[in-house]
Amino acid sequence: MRRLQSATQMLEWSRRERCSGKGIAFVPTMGALHEGHLSLVDLAADRASRVVVSIFVNPAQFGPSKDLEQYPRDVERDMEMLSDRKVDAVFVPEEDVLYPAGCTTLVVETGLSEILEGASRPGHFRGVVTVVTKLLLIVEPDLLVLGQKDAQQVAVLRRLIHDLKFSVDVIVGPIIRESGGLALSSRNAYLSDDERRQAACLHESLFEARNLVRGGEDDAGVVLGAMRDRIEREPAVRIDYVVAVHPDTFEPATSLEGPTLFCVAVFVGDTRLIDNELVSSHPESPDGN
Ligand code: PAF
Repeated sequence: MRRLQSATQMLEWSRRERCSGKGIAFVPTMGALHEGHLSLVDLAADRASRVVVSIFVNPAQFGPSKDLEQYPRDVERDMEMLSDRKVDAVFVPEEDVLYPAGCTTLVVETGLSEILEGASRPGHFRGVVTVVTKLLLIVEPDLLVLGQKDAQQVAVLRRLIHDLKFSVDVIVGPIIRESGGLALSSRNAYLSDDERRQAACLHESLFEARNLVRGGEDDAGVVLGAMRDRIEREPAVRIDYVVAVHPDTFEPATSLEGPTLFCVAVFVGDTRLIDNELVSSHPESPDGN
């Protein structure tokens, strides 16, 4: 497993591999790796003969709070975790590789980026889209592997790839959950035991949505109300949003007939957590889960 730090090293490595006929799957991360990331790495290894992982805590996607400073960083531990998987190269750039002094260019998606996560975290998607553009230009992968947990990020990055005509396919790995159901996230490390217990309301509200829709409920308002009721039982949890949207456009779902993406964002104490579930009223359909 090669550790590459400069953009030139990374690009030369990728081009060499592609010239020798190897397909490259790329898993971008901000480190603090957990089983969710490793499942994406395994998916990448199933789909391509070469796997590249990047580790870069992207300052441009953080707000002005202390979140960036506090974000967990342990590259050596991350490298150790990756060394057990089928990873060929790890790109670990310093900040000035991706944001050299004097760099004033940003890449902005102006539709989907404005709502939900984008509205709650102004500038977040501009940072994500900018850094992923740079990473795609440096890694030149055939496949970009993303996680369903950040469903809106997936939709925004699909738009980027479509609009700027990047020649890369996207594959999306499922949400990986702890045995109790909490979606894995680097931010779970901030939760106290009590907050972790209360955070169960996220996935429980989503499971409730699934049960209601599969049981024939077709009024989004009723389902969202039941989800809110479940979440509001927890004193340390404050709702940011609870929505039902179309899985690609993120338009509010007008009917629960087709596949509907239920998304929740909450603060548990000071920690912001998100989760989502794609629900179909016909579980036997390909989108039913
Ligand atoms: O999902 C993440 O970890 C980040 O948003 C990404 C895609 C690595 C860009 O910094």
